[in-house]
Amino acid sequence: MTQDRIPLAGVIGSPVAHSKSPQLHRHWLRQYGLPGYYIPMDVGPDDLRQVIEALPKAGFVGANVTVPHKEAIMEIADLATDRATLIGAANTLIFRPDGKIHADNTDGYGFIENLRQGAPDWDAKAGPCAVLGAGGAARAVIVALLDAGVPEIMLSNRTRARAETLQKEFGTRITVVEWVQAGNMLEDAATVVNTTSLGMIGMPPLRVPLDGLQRGATVTDLVYAPLQTRFLQTAEEMGCTTVDGLGMLLHQAVPGFERWFGQRPEVDAAARAAVLR
Ligand code: ATR
Repeated sequence: MTQDRIPLAGVIGSPVAHSKSPQLHRHWLRQYGLPGYYIPMDVGPDDLRQVIEALPKAGFVGANVTVPHKEAIMEIADLATDRATLIGAANTLIFRPDGKIHADNTDGYGFIENLRQGAPDWDAKAGPCAVLGAGGAARAVIVALLDAGVPEIMLSNRTRARAETLQKEFGTRITVVEWVQAGNMLEDAATVVNTTSLGMIGMPPLRVPLDGLQRGATVTDLVYAPLQTRFLQTAEEMGCTTVDGLGMLLHQAVPGFERWFGQRPEVDAAARAAVLR
């Protein structure tokens, strides 16, 4: 690749039209006056490998990968970071000058950075953490929480077997709680995270009883549409510190943007406004 080629990046998923990433990266490119483009690419599973392998030849320096390709991309990448390997999924690719495709997972990083920015007094070691849900997003959240030093994770999921799989994989600091008992684990929790899609526009509400929530607990929701979920609203009324899920989306984009375009971007009010437009 010659020096004067304009760096290209984008997000690969299917469907991908709803992705907020193009708005965010374009905002940062404009803000920092950088040359570059970031585009959404709707690619089905059968074409994924072929498209990924062609992108570097077309001037792409990297890409984000989203649903349904986050796991499959691990088979296509030549190298993966430890955290991507541990989670078993990647969301950020770097196309290296030597032709190798490098996969990283920045979802957990984005989750923790959002928590730290939204709740500056949050202390991972303050007490047990309650996690609702055991899907793909929960894997990244759990790895990040354990890495941050939480003493214990109480994990509850409608399908108990998925929670047990995570417990087997990620170890002794995880306790599985029956979905019908999920409300009980909130009584001991210093941190509470909803990783399910419940409460999202078009989904049923999260019906876990919240009266056990501790005043002073830090409560966060991965759902960001609506920004203020009923879960967060109730937690706030009960005196908890609440952090909405939009910041995770913003923060997970930082490492990729920095690697591709050479500038570490700021997650600030303007970045939030860019994706809410
Ligand atoms: P993601 O990558 O966003 O985590 P996912 O892997 O499909 O997506 O996981 C969705 C999560 O929301 C799961 O924890 C799922 O519970 P199940 O494992 O039992 O499917 C949870 N979820 C979705 N709809 C739900 C519902 N109606 N009631 C309870 N949990 C639900």
